[in-house]
Amino acid sequence: MDTDSKEISRDFASNLDQTLRPQSWDEYVGQEKIKENLRILLTAARERGHAAEHILLYGPPGLGKTTLAHLISKTLGTNMRSTSGPAIERVGDLAAILTNLSPGDVLFIDEIHRLSKSIEEVLYPAMESGVLDIIIGKGPSARTVQLELPPFTLVAATTRISLLSSPLRSRFSGGTFRLEFYSEDEIATILRRSAALLGVDTPDQIFSGIAARCRATPRTANYLLKRCRDLAQLEGGAITADTVSRTFGLLEIDTLGLSGPDRAVLDAIITKFNGGPVGLNTIAAATGEEQATIEDVLEPYLIRQGLLERTPRGRVATPIAYSHIQNL
Ligand SMILES: Nc1ncnc2c1ncn2[C@@H]1O[C@H](COP(=O)(O)OP(=O)(O)OP(=O)(O)O)[C@@H](O)[C@H]1O
Ligand SMILES: [Mg+2]
Repeated sequence: MDTDSKEISRDFASNLDQTLRPQSWDEYVGQEKIKENLRILLTAARERGHAAEHILLYGPPGLGKTTLAHLISKTLGTNMRSTSGPAIERVGDLAAILTNLSPGDVLFIDEIHRLSKSIEEVLYPAMESGVLDIIIGKGPSARTVQLELPPFTLVAATTRISLLSSPLRSRFSGGTFRLEFYSEDEIATILRRSAALLGVDTPDQIFSGIAARCRATPRTANYLLKRCRDLAQLEGGAITADTVSRTFGLLEIDTLGLSGPDRAVLDAIITKFNGGPVGLNTIAAATGEEQATIEDVLEPYLIRQGLLERTPRGRVATPIAYSHIQNL
């Protein structure tokens, strides 16, 4: 994908996310264990009148990390300031953000794995002791000034927990939570709400049809519902099973919910590398996908579906992958 189309799809994704984003815990379907843990953590902090401890959320794209961050700040009854790892380029950027927080605020840092080392080091004392160490001047006359920060809760999200240094990870004293893929029932519940919000008339079996092929991911499910709605609208009718199956056909999404890039990965492992084991970088070269995309976006679902295994010697295609690819 070139940069432009990436930008457009990002933009598009964020618009879609905002319209359909759950506004309350009741609307936030699934992830029951995380919700229960957060409920206790946040309620207790709120009752004590303290800022909640720092929280790290991780898991594949579109499973609801950003949505959770919004709900956390709503529950604490404080403001949320949002930024992301790549947006914080200099120590001064982080210092400006931190010193402008009000007591109890939530600071949300998305893609925290992309923070630079020097910025991480400023973040450690801020997270741990609520202070900011700033170096003023250069050379022998340089000195460190320590600024007291307002108490705040850092909520960080990442698709790549393995890239976080262990000192950073260990400072999320409120907890580290991994978001899980959703069951088909959970996705159907999400879609029912989305269809109502979008005002599209959709029979119930459509929801399960989409749920089976959305990579167990709410964002993808909502995206597919919208594409089905578009096609139905052009044809002047309600969404039917036929609309759904033709939409999947147009988007080249198969019966397991895989799309072109997923199949390319499996196909390369099977046909070029005899089923594996084969290294990630080799798969990337063979398919033209970036390693990070394979690792963060494609692979988690392939592993969950039992199509791919991660071994110390590389990735291996499973018998299920063979029969799926060969029956296409
Ligand atoms: N538990 C949920 N219940 C209902 N809808 C959800 C849930 N989780 C996610 N969604 C829907 O999916 C969309 C994407 O979720 P969100 O933006 O929170 O994902 P994310 O994990 O932050 O993804 P990324 O890693 O790409 O930033 C939301 O706007 C919402 O419409
Ligand atoms: Mg997000």
